[in-house]
Amino acid sequence: MVSKELPFTEEKIKEIIAKHPTPFHIYDRKNILENSRKLKEAFSIVNGFREYFAVKALPNPYIMKILKKEGFGADCSSMAELVLAEKTGIVGKDIMFSSNDTPAEEFIKAKELGAIINLDDISHIEYLEKTAGLPEIVCCRYNPGSLKKGNTLIGNPEEAKYGFTREQLFEGYKLMKEKGVKKFGLHTMVASNELEPDYFVETARILFELAADLSKELGIEFEFVNLGGGIGIPYRPDQEPVSYEKIAEGVREAYDENITANSLYPLKVYLECGRVITGPYGYLVTTVRHLKHIYKDYVGTDASMANLMRPGIYGAYHHITVLGKENEEPTHLYDVTGSLCENNDKFAIDRLLPKVERGDILVIHDTGAHGHAMGFNYNGKLRSAEILLNEDKSFMEIRRAETLEDYFATLDFDNLDKV
Ligand SMILES: Cc1ncc(COP(=O)(O)O)c(C=O)c1O
Repeated sequence: MVSKELPFTEEKIKEIIAKHPTPFHIYDRKNILENSRKLKEAFSIVNGFREYFAVKALPNPYIMKILKKEGFGADCSSMAELVLAEKTGIVGKDIMFSSNDTPAEEFIKAKELGAIINLDDISHIEYLEKTAGLPEIVCCRYNPGSLKKGNTLIGNPEEAKYGFTREQLFEGYKLMKEKGVKKFGLHTMVASNELEPDYFVETARILFELAADLSKELGIEFEFVNLGGGIGIPYRPDQEPVSYEKIAEGVREAYDENITANSLYPLKVYLECGRVITGPYGYLVTTVRHLKHIYKDYVGTDASMANLMRPGIYGAYHHITVLGKENEEPTHLYDVTGSLCENNDKFAIDRLLPKVERGDILVIHDTGAHGHAMGFNYNGKLRSAEILLNEDKSFMEIRRAETLEDYFATLDFDNLDKV
């Protein structure tokens, strides 16, 4: 029987539910830490390596603090994420600000915090100069166009709205040098949830070659290359995790060939991963509310696409465990649904599970990244709580569930008689 391990028992989950009713996301601190250390260890062979955790994947200050203690920076993409970083005590060069279609106030905030600003477009050089002023170091995002194939989640780079073309990079860095910028970074991000290590090695090679060409032609100095995020996770039980060692060894080899050989040492190498850092260590816990038998058999839960959007929008696979029935045969074919008035509000379609009953607790796996974060309020659904499971199996609420008061907080009912 295909299965995925859980870091908690049914008894523990019932103890948590007694205090915090379902649905909620629960994050496993022990494995987040172990995985972060594995990543650092594997990449210790790469010069100046640093991971900037992509805050958008799990924008919770408690998780950010745990990762900060491991030496990770924060990759922010919006005002809210910048403020979250600041409130967590992450400031200065510990912030990578990778945004697009950026408003002036976000550039101003990023500059105030001393963040490394990663520009998405050549026109933003002048815009940044006028609004916040050019900092000493600036990074640019490269869109390799037809030079590199994207993957299914992110699409073809030529169709993607992000980044500078190669020609624009030469023009842009030249302009910034003339304007007095002293140091530079180079970034790209062309894959999402990619399980093939060579993909990242090839990306590194493209960036290293490009940094070498830009340095030679323009006489500028690169402080770092940022390979972006996008390392995938084994959502399906038969998939293998990506080998950090394989990526790191390939990146190191490409570094030696392009950076060391071109005397560009000590260029540093950064990643801004989200999914692979926390994704596998989060679980959406939900209770079965109803069973419905029409043309198909449906399991209706108390969670919905508002708590986890990936299956609904990408058809993404998330493994489901029926708690306490781990050893029962999966004999029944179900669609597992939420209660939104949207037919794609399904966590699984045609999924074989043990016979499910009302009141069963379902654990939806791998929700630790782009899970709660992508939540929304359609149909007046409320965002769930987030719980942290500690190493000693004690637990802590790190975000409370929304209430109807939160939902209505932006409405003023007192003026209804004026319409
Ligand atoms: C610019 C940027 N960096 C990093 C990430 C994190 O990607 P992942 O969580 O797949 O590692 C994203 C994801 O959307 C992104 O857009």
